[in-house]
Amino acid sequence: MEEKFGVPKDPSYLIKALQHIQEEKGYISMKDALDVAEYLDVPLSKVYGVATFYEQFRLKPRGKYIIRVCQGTACHVKGGKTLLDFLKDFLGIGVGETTDDCLFTIERVACLGACALAPAVEINGKIYGKMNPDKLRDIIIEIKEAEKNAKSCKPV
Ligand code: FES
Repeated sequence: MEEKFGVPKDPSYLIKALQHIQEEKGYISMKDALDVAEYLDVPLSKVYGVATFYEQFRLKPRGKYIIRVCQGTACHVKGGKTLLDFLKDFLGIGVGETTDDCLFTIERVACLGACALAPAVEINGKIYGKMNPDKLRDIIIEIKEAEKNAKSCKPV
């Protein structure tokens, strides 16, 4: 029996198929959504409905470095918004977006569980506490330096 996206050709496997794509590629592209709709014989609107309903699914590529800026109460009162605004300006992207070199994605979170270190930022799982725009800029410049010979991760 034909099998694509790691699932049988059965519309009830839509979520599993989307999970499979995301595991392989990191996000679900328009072409993936079309392919799944065709394979499982469900309307494209249903594929999008499911992909946008569940937070686990991403419809855009993500960068190699996920920068999560806390906007929880403790971080907010200590300058979390200033940090987020700085980061958006410095990288030239908005929340949920990824830089053209595919290095950085900005995310906003409600609490990183490190309130004593407010304002906090998490980069690929590592917490950076008591941040300010200067420190954040230095960390990003350091990452860019380390990655300058890395191949572009531009998705196809
Ligand atoms: S509010 Fe920012 S870590 Fe908790």
